[in-house]
Amino acid sequence: LEERRRHISESIRQVPDFPKKGILFHDVTTLLLDPKAFQYSIDDLAERYKGKGIDAIAGFEARGFIWGAPLALALHCGFVPLRKPGKLPGETIRASYSLEYGEDVIEMHVGAVQAGQRVLLVDDLIATGGTMGAGIKLMQKVGAEVVECAVVIEMPDLGGRKKLGDVPLYAQVQKDGE
Ligand code: PRP
Ligand code: MG
Repeated sequence: LEERRRHISESIRQVPDFPKKGILFHDVTTLLLDPKAFQYSIDDLAERYKGKGIDAIAGFEARGFIWGAPLALALHCGFVPLRKPGKLPGETIRASYSLEYGEDVIEMHVGAVQAGQRVLLVDDLIATGGTMGAGIKLMQKVGAEVVECAVVIEMPDLGGRKKLGDVPLYAQVQKDGE
């Protein structure tokens, strides 16, 4: 198991000074090019949540879709895209979160998740936790229960975990911020 985790971790490319100077970017495109690493990552999540009564996986545009969709297939549950504003054609509900400057918004289709359903939030990475926190807010608005937040990479230095309140976070690997 530790071997698999190491394989996942080593398949993630580190790009210094992207998108700006001083930021170390963790690039999952190299993980996706390595079918063994991608398979390990999906299998690990599928094993963790199998039999946990998950009704739906909600994944964040864009990179959260890459993990959320195969995981939903593996768990035989629905996949709910959480999208950047203006992309979903139906009636939407939104949650905002603050950035360093200004704020960002995610949207979900009304009716995609029902009150009382057990939802797993999935993304590639948690940094400040703004994105994941907004996902939790969105699920609370519709009365769904967030069972856990799952990511490939956590950057613990950025304290994202603290934005999740009582909702547990599962991360496959941990990485430094800069
Ligand atoms: C990145 C990453 C997470 C989010 C994490 O997405 O994929 O979704 O940032 O940051 P946070 O914890 O500080 O909110 P990004 O918004 O860059 O867009 P993308 O997934 O569409 O590439
Ligand atoms: Mg993202």
